[in-house]
Amino acid sequence: MGLPWICFSAFAVCLASCLKFHGHKVIQVQLETEEHVKLIKSMDKTFNLDFWRPDSSSRIAPKMTVDFHIHANHTETILHLLKQNTVHYEVLFHDLQAGIEAQLDNSRLRKSQKHKYNKYNDWDTITDWASKMASEHSDLVRLIDIGNTYEGRPMTVLRVGQSNAEGPAIFMDCGIHAREWISPAFCQWFVRELVSGYSKNEEIKKLLTNLTFYILPVLNIDGYVYTWTEDRMWRKNRSPAEDSDCFGTDLNRNFNVSWCDIGSSDEPCTEIYCGKSAQSEEETKNVANFILSHLKSIKAYISIHAFSQMILYPYSYTYELAPNSKELGEISKGAISELSSLYKTKYVYGPSASTIYPTSGSSDDWAYSQGIQYSFTFELRDTGKRGFLLPESQIRATCKETTLAIKYIANYVLSHS
Ligand code: ARG
Ligand code: ZN
Repeated sequence: MGLPWICFSAFAVCLASCLKFHGHKVIQVQLETEEHVKLIKSMDKTFNLDFWRPDSSSRIAPKMTVDFHIHANHTETILHLLKQNTVHYEVLFHDLQAGIEAQLDNSRLRKSQKHKYNKYNDWDTITDWASKMASEHSDLVRLIDIGNTYEGRPMTVLRVGQSNAEGPAIFMDCGIHAREWISPAFCQWFVRELVSGYSKNEEIKKLLTNLTFYILPVLNIDGYVYTWTEDRMWRKNRSPAEDSDCFGTDLNRNFNVSWCDIGSSDEPCTEIYCGKSAQSEEETKNVANFILSHLKSIKAYISIHAFSQMILYPYSYTYELAPNSKELGEISKGAISELSSLYKTKYVYGPSASTIYPTSGSSDDWAYSQGIQYSFTFELRDTGKRGFLLPESQIRATCKETTLAIKYIANYVLSHS
């Protein structure tokens, strides 16, 4: 009786119309020379590579490790060119479709449509979960509607905290980039950690008594839905561009801070398109307005991405150091030491521009520019082996260790505000 199970697993990720990636590969190259860099950039022009790390070919330089996804039709030519030019490479995914399917390796959980913390939940399941959290824990959780996405889906912040007073608060968002599925999984995990810890864990109780958490489990909902129904590798939101057939603005390039400058592109077909204007997108506007309307209380901003295992802080748009850079470095260091105490996961930290790559119009820089002193971007597991396709079997460990880091930051914020 294998058949029903096969049906389930086939429908679990996406419906028949969905893009398939049979024969596509993800390649990791070690770039040594300027010639190598030129080669990759010209290959990008010809074959339109999908960069996984860094996020675009404009960022690559000698001595860098670069991961990108290539179409099945181009693999032979590309691998030949790499060999011919003595670029050292490794194949991370021989068949991307197989990688996408391997990601859902908690097959036992997959048989049910129910919400589970250690599987990837689709958007409808996450919405139902949020309502349920609010109704079952009405003493701690309230839903706040902050406006709709481009396609009209309501964006809902979970306000988690005991007091109704506007005490110090932390804003955290997950899923700015649609394909980084571990990120929304973490926001859901963290909400449970808070509500279930309240009655049995002194530390959580203290946090929830004195702090408010504003948690947005999926910022880019339209993009997230699209990764489930059409294209697992989608990153941006889903608004159409003017004068172009391409869709999507990179929401982490659309905030009103040094907008559309370094590490962004004004070309709508790129993955780092900054949008028509600063905060032109519904999703960015809604988040910015919510934060502005709670600016007096929000002391920390945390944005959860994947992958690379990093804690980053401002600035992103310049290599200059932020005024409290040293303090942000010390907080990151403390958070990482907590995080790695559990499974020895290695993280690095530093100012965003020099630690990962410069970007402009990013949410962390924007929050910082509004006076939120403690502004961080997390890049969760892994360092590239599975990349955006982190298997479900790693959700639990990833979320447990990340929880330690966020709690560390929350405690710090509480004792310094
Ligand atoms: N990976 C994310 C991106 O490409 C973050 C890069 C670092 N930038 C930042 N502002 N923290 O948008
Ligand atoms: Zn991201």
